[in-house]
Amino acid sequence: MAEEKRMKALILSGGKGTRLRPLTHTGAKQLVPIANRPILAYVLENIANAGIKEVGIIISPETGAEIKSTIGDGSRWGVSIRYILQEEPKGLAHAVLVGKEFLGDSPFVMYLGDNLIGCGIEKFVETFRTTGADAVILLKPVDNPQSFGVAETDSTGRILSLEEKPKNPKSNLALVGIYIFSVEIHRAISEIKPSARGELEITDAIQRLITVGRTVRSHILDTWWLDTGKKDDLLAANTIVLDEWFKRRIDGDVDSSTQITGRVTVEKGATVRGSTLRGPMVIGAGAVVEESFIGPFTSIGAGTIIKKSIIEHSVILAGAEISHIDRLEDSLIGRNAKVVKCHFKHEALRLMIGDDSVVEV
Ligand code: DAU
Repeated sequence: MAEEKRMKALILSGGKGTRLRPLTHTGAKQLVPIANRPILAYVLENIANAGIKEVGIIISPETGAEIKSTIGDGSRWGVSIRYILQEEPKGLAHAVLVGKEFLGDSPFVMYLGDNLIGCGIEKFVETFRTTGADAVILLKPVDNPQSFGVAETDSTGRILSLEEKPKNPKSNLALVGIYIFSVEIHRAISEIKPSARGELEITDAIQRLITVGRTVRSHILDTWWLDTGKKDDLLAANTIVLDEWFKRRIDGDVDSSTQITGRVTVEKGATVRGSTLRGPMVIGAGAVVEESFIGPFTSIGAGTIIKKSIIEHSVILAGAEISHIDRLEDSLIGRNAKVVKCHFKHEALRLMIGDDSVVEV
């Protein structure tokens, strides 16, 4: 019997580089931090845990450099990473075409780099191995299928048809953005044409597999799945990740007058003085927190300064400064932004906010 080819992974982190101010300054939405870690770190962790060692990351000219310098060579996850430049965002199937030389004739997991799911991918890889299907697609029921790729399945989970963002969806099952393919996908991609929006669509390539009689199976995701593009989604992702995955770990310097309750993480190099910390929450490396109350579901980024403030259910990105703010909640503060109140006698706030930040007072 021929030796089974080792599975690889292709992470798609190219795309239009639309700026997600103030979440990222350069527009790499795959680097948006959830509980102080970029989304791509969770993606790589899932891939490494599934036993995959060779990873290709599709990058764009606009955001590639930032992704490379943040993620590195993959040794942190025990994988080797090859960065592959896609000059223009011509579609998900086009990204596979660009990655073809790296993929060779190996089966591979294709993972959209801005996807965050509440579980590992081992089960899906297992389904691919045991069923001998040419594609296994991850699906999740949603309320707004028009915004996604949508699949129609039979009672055994076999996919019958697929459509990209249909006006009249045939089901409520959205494509999550995690796919496993055999080498057959390359032939299917070579047989499709760009869609009306000018992109080579992976949904069309999978539909082509079905049309030529190949087996395409589905797996329904039974945990959460988050799209992290907007403020509320990002706060929701931050809440879930802190709630489900964080433990109590105090590696920073916390003085005896500080009260800690619940699952609080204080990273090495952080300093906390005279404060109350109520988990689940995380304080990043090098942050300084003084005489403040930090409530549940809050991520305080690396190198931030928090003084005499009350913060709850918020994400404060690296290098921000918050001083004398009576109450900040459900907020997202961009990198290096400053929220500093100076005149205590007056009701009015004096704010100096970093470029492109949004302030709701
Ligand atoms: O989020 C799930 C949805 O993702 C699926 O339901 C859809 O079927 C699928 O087409 C995709 O739709 P989006 O509109 O969300 O795709 P987006 O353009 O945001 O790209 C998804 C990721 O792939 C993102 O990390 C950028 C990257 N990408 C995208 C394109 C078009 C590339 O690397 N190269 C590209 O050419």
